[in-house]
This record gives sequence, structure tokens and C-alpha cells, in this order.
Amino acid sequence: MCKGSWMEHPDADAATDPEATTEPEYQIRAREHGPFVVTGGVALTSPNGAVIDDADNYVLCRCGKTASAPYCDRSHRDAGFTATDIDGCAARIPADRDDASTEPSVALMPHGPLMVTGPLSITTSAGETFCRAAGVALCRCGGSATKPLCDGTHATNGFAPVDPSDAPADG
Ligand code: FES
Repeated sequence: MCKGSWMEHPDADAATDPEATTEPEYQIRAREHGPFVVTGGVALTSPNGAVIDDADNYVLCRCGKTASAPYCDRSHRDAGFTATDIDGCAARIPADRDDASTEPSVALMPHGPLMVTGPLSITTSAGETFCRAAGVALCRCGGSATKPLCDGTHATNGFAPVDPSDAPADG
């Protein structure tokens, strides 16, 4: 199931990499200057707590400009979104927050970040893991100075996505 996101192969290198594993792995890939690609069947929950996606892969906006929140609609290209600074992530997350006792999930916080729960690898565009994290907030407003982490900027930059649970009822 996937509602409205444009899709791309989440691991295009795997088909040609002889060391590529077929083991399922929960992963969020922060694409350079682009969205988050979530793979492994991670539950995505609305601000109301309902599971709205659990596809093997889906693509979430992190530039804050999409008209199809929470999914990427490629607006980052027209917006000139840049996101290359990942250096602060590992230093800011204690190692013991890699919590294998919970199911991985990504929660849409109301007018705020993506809250990551459970054992997940957060990786670079190249697939290099730069942190294993549970209980971290990932920026989806595009304004954080500590991308991919949220730094609270969403509270002051007018970020107000229309997430699925925010949409007016049909009729
Ligand atoms: S969601 Fe972007 S700074 Fe919090």
C-alpha cells in the first residue's frame, strides 16, 4: 500500500552489487538534496496515530514544499532544496537509543517532524549508515540547520502541511 508518493527503486545498486543482501532491513535513506526513502515495511502513522502506510518503500518529503504531504512530489527540485549536512547526527544520538525491543515506525508530528521509533538505520544517499536511531526527530520542513535532524525551526517558519488526518472530510 502506498498513497500518493512518487516511487523510485529504493536500492538501485542492489541489482548489480554482488555483496548486496536480500535480508530485509528497516531503513530511512536521506537522499542528497532530496526526500527520505523509507524501506522495509515501516509503519507510517498520521498525527492521529493511524497507520496510513506500510509499503515496502515509500518516499517522504523533507523540503517542506510538497503539495502531497507527507509524500514527496518532487517539489524539492523547483525549490532548490539543499541538504548535505549529516555530520551532526551520529554525534547527537546516544548509541543506546538503537532500541530493538520496539517495532519500527515513523510518526507524522502535527506541523512538525517525523518521529522515528524502533530499530532503524538512517543512511546517506549512498546507503552508508550514519546512525542507528530510535526516538529521533527528522526534519520535514526543510528549515533545520542540523539536517536530517529537526532543530525546532518548524515552530517559527510557518510549516503547516496538510497531513492525511488533517484533510477535510469528503462531501
Ligand atoms: S521539522 Fe524541520 S526543523 Fe523541525
